[in-house]
Amino acid sequence: MPFPIPGRFALTHPPLAATSACVFDAYGTLFDVVSASARCRDALGDKADALAALWRTKQLEYTWLRSLMGRHAEFWQVTGESLDFALAALGIAGDRLRERLMDAFLNLQAFADARAVLEALRRAGRPAAILSNGSPRMLAAAVGSAGLGKLLDHLISVEEVGTYKPDRRVYQLAVDRLGLAPAQICFVSSNGWDAAGAAGFGFASVWANRTGAPRERLPVQPLAEIGSLDALPALLGL
Ligand code: 2OP
Repeated sequence: MPFPIPGRFALTHPPLAATSACVFDAYGTLFDVVSASARCRDALGDKADALAALWRTKQLEYTWLRSLMGRHAEFWQVTGESLDFALAALGIAGDRLRERLMDAFLNLQAFADARAVLEALRRAGRPAAILSNGSPRMLAAAVGSAGLGKLLDHLISVEEVGTYKPDRRVYQLAVDRLGLAPAQICFVSSNGWDAAGAAGFGFASVWANRTGAPRERLPVQPLAEIGSLDALPALLGL
């Protein structure tokens, strides 16, 4: 059962307070993937929201399908192919628009709560890292455009193992890089399936449920659920 966290009135959670570092998912957790389509709303019009949703859904599906097929390709390629599917499905054409959308995905905006939580971790001397499906180039670009580079100690990409979350080999990358046991790592993701995968691996996992989604019906549940990253420092006892 997830620890019942009452939104803004989050309390310290002992197993989370006992962790020594925080590892964040990137897309949807620190970086707002919807902002890419929103930036092109002038060209997408009333299809902007549908495109954002379908693009993201297909992007994730393709990571899982490629993993199952044993046909890995970098997240940049998967992002382009899922965009092509979504544009075709919605009857949207235009090479220039495709280029704009891909460029916007490369330079995503960070969520408003991302900087504050990273600053709180830095003040507390807790290492902070990203562990993401994104390729090293994509992560460097996102962190750079959001101006978060100085607040992150490690950018860890699945490319080191050539498969995608929630493969355990991906989560193991953070263990190896940080030199900590899984239970010493607080893993935070807005993607419920990622928070569940991380919990199954053994991380002290937190689901940042930004959209108020129902919990995933998967075999392992995260330790805690929060509505935004603002609640994380209290959970960690910072
Ligand atoms: C990430 O790994 C799952 O897209 C998500 O950043």
